[in-house]
Amino acid sequence: MNSIKTISKSPEPTEKDIALEAERLFGKGLGDLGYSEDDLRRCAELTWKINILKKEKRAVIPAHVYQRAEILHGVADFIGDSYKLARLCQKSPAERIIFCGVRFMAETAKILNPEKEVLLPAPQAGCSLSESISGEDVRKLRAEHPGAPVATYINTSAEVKAESDVIVTSANAPKILSKLFEAHKKIIFLPDELMGKNLAKALNKKIGAEIILWKGRCIVHENFDASSIDYYRKIYPGVKILAHSECSPGLVSVVDLVGGTGDMMRYVEKTKAPYYMLITECGLGDLARTEFPDKVFVPMCRLCPHMRATDLKSILRALEDPQPSSVIEVPKEIAERAKKPIEKMFEMAEDAVKL
Ligand code: 13P
Ligand code: SF4
Repeated sequence: MNSIKTISKSPEPTEKDIALEAERLFGKGLGDLGYSEDDLRRCAELTWKINILKKEKRAVIPAHVYQRAEILHGVADFIGDSYKLARLCQKSPAERIIFCGVRFMAETAKILNPEKEVLLPAPQAGCSLSESISGEDVRKLRAEHPGAPVATYINTSAEVKAESDVIVTSANAPKILSKLFEAHKKIIFLPDELMGKNLAKALNKKIGAEIILWKGRCIVHENFDASSIDYYRKIYPGVKILAHSECSPGLVSVVDLVGGTGDMMRYVEKTKAPYYMLITECGLGDLARTEFPDKVFVPMCRLCPHMRATDLKSILRALEDPQPSSVIEVPKEIAERAKKPIEKMFEMAEDAVKL
């Protein structure tokens, strides 16, 4: 493979190129999300360059659903939740992966594609859940609970995955955990405490005895609560309220659906309701508004600073002249160990999720 350092810069678009590209972005629904004509032209210049370069460099751009709308509609080759992105990266024939998301997602892509160059345009894009736990913490928990399998949320570092038995995502955690409970009386679930509490309740398991939890929290979802739900149900009669499974059990107990971002999108697609409220990161609401322009969405979201760290400029830079910190490396020994529990997830959950 060519070294990424030898990659040339994109040509400059003409005025006509920019106008046509801005029109394409407008057609994707960005105007309805509040992008002005100037915003669209500014984005168009960058998306035009990125789309030229990514072909030339045989790169693919996966983007998590929380990414900015100009990324999702302007340059992404595929969009999805954590599970879908991991699976599609593995299947892509591209030589380079420019991952629009956060570090744990790009690391997962690298673990599954060690021969490919994986770049994270915003190298500072972390995740509070991933940062809450180390490999050493997992080893200690195992020693405290001998024989209990470790089911680990995908929002973790490669080092933590390497210490795990199976990886789960928000889309398949209930299914994988219930399968594990068929063979084990006690399991360790890491690192999201709130998701762990939600799973314990759904599976009727005792926290501390049957399911051992860690103290990680998502800084976005831990801040939603149930206090205003009754009010919204009164002023938006018939509203369907959907919450991400990283939200608190108090909130989860009063909503119509709890699940991952993919579950939320599928629910909106399949149901007919006068209003929808998506309690999660704001990117999902923007995506839903463009995908389902005839449905009405009641705003209730927060921004994830990590997910927002990627922008079109950083993507272009990753293609033209990446910073060394954008290049994702996972030591071979850790990658080989981390790959096993990810593949275990594919084996246990493939039929649980429609890609
Ligand atoms: P999903 O797998 O549901 O997309 O969640 C990823 C994430 O980071 C949620 O905060
Ligand atoms: Fe991590 Fe929460 Fe941001 Fe998702 S929304 S990347 S879980 S901090």
